Amino acid sequence: MKIRNFLPDDRAAVIDLWRRCGLLSNPLNDPGRDIDFCLGEGNGEILVLEEDGAVLATAMLGQDGHRGWVYYLATEPDRRHEGLGRRLMQAAEHRLRQQGVPKMQLMVRDSNSQAIGYYQRLGYIREPATLMSRRLDGIARPLGHQMDDEPVIITYLEMTERPPLPRIEPGVKRHALMRAHDITTEFYRYLYDAVGRPWYWTDRKKLSDEQLAEILGDPAVEVYVLYANGAPAGFFELDGRGMPRLELAYFGILPDYIGKGLGRYLLEAAIETAWNQEPKRLTVNTCTLDHPSALPMYQRFGFKPYDREEVPAPWQTEDNVLDFA
Ligand SMILES: CC(C)(COP(=O)(O)OP(=O)(O)OC[C@H]1O[C@@H](n2cnc3c(N)ncnc32)[C@H](O)[C@@H]1OP(=O)(O)O)[C@@H](O)C(=O)NCCC(=O)NCCS
Repeated sequence: MKIRNFLPDDRAAVIDLWRRCGLLSNPLNDPGRDIDFCLGEGNGEILVLEEDGAVLATAMLGQDGHRGWVYYLATEPDRRHEGLGRRLMQAAEHRLRQQGVPKMQLMVRDSNSQAIGYYQRLGYIREPATLMSRRLDGIARPLGHQMDDEPVIITYLEMTERPPLPRIEPGVKRHALMRAHDITTEFYRYLYDAVGRPWYWTDRKKLSDEQLAEILGDPAVEVYVLYANGAPAGFFELDGRGMPRLELAYFGILPDYIGKGLGRYLLEAAIETAWNQEPKRLTVNTCTLDHPSALPMYQRFGFKPYDREEVPAPWQTEDNVLDFA
């Protein structure tokens, strides 16, 4: 049994091993291309553990000038728990240490608890970090409820008189709705992120603490927080800086509380609170990145669409490649 570098003749056996180990489930990952790219121009290397000419295990490794990475760790299914994976990982660590790499990293799907357990046994820790990625090859990916190369459609809605509102009981017994007077930027950022993260809300994240504090400190801006069983479950924000037009600027429920009837309750409360300020017009807008039921829900509560705009998503900008060259 020996560990050596990948040879061209290993290609079919290695790809077959990866397939049988369930590593090729993403159709966007082309193993042949991955092998060529890894071995081309000294990008990385593939270690193969071989016994009597048979490939029993593999690991792809490389370094990006800062950290070392391992991909495609795979052991022949009927040769598991013999220490083959550990030997390859040790060889990979040794190789990268020799190249001056101070830290090894690897990516495991959250759903692959087996592999997470395995790496923990080898001394790897779960990092409190979020992995983010973007394709550079132009292949569109689903982003929320649309593809990331599609334009975003914003629907603008309004109502010009107080609508008849049904009395809605929230689906959670112990609840409270309170205006957050003098809300801190920290608490506001928590609410905005907790509610808006799945829907790609980023506008308020662009603001500095000072800019945000100025908006929140404006007496015409009001934030109301819904608590369910003692914990924040949603919020809405009324922006009256353009009175007599009042804007329902932000509205949403935290992901854990969606589907409990709290959204309709909170929207009714928001509309009621808004009309108590006697505006001439109450407006709201929603876009195709938002929860798909937001638009029909606003309409059901009496908002009428008055405009529709197609805009590029914030990341669909012209590349400034020439500036770089
Ligand atoms: C993960 C994998 C490479 C492990 O290979 P292996 O050769 O069986 O692992 P080893 O024999 O080197 O195991 C080393 C130790 O971890 C233990 N171990 C193996 N699988 C484990 C698991 N899922 N959870 C916890 N411990 C595990 C072994 O029992 C052994 O324990 P020891 O400390 O008593 O010696 C193999 O299961 C595999 O190919 N899985 C499918 C592909 C995959 O998921 N790769 C990772 C993608 S991120």
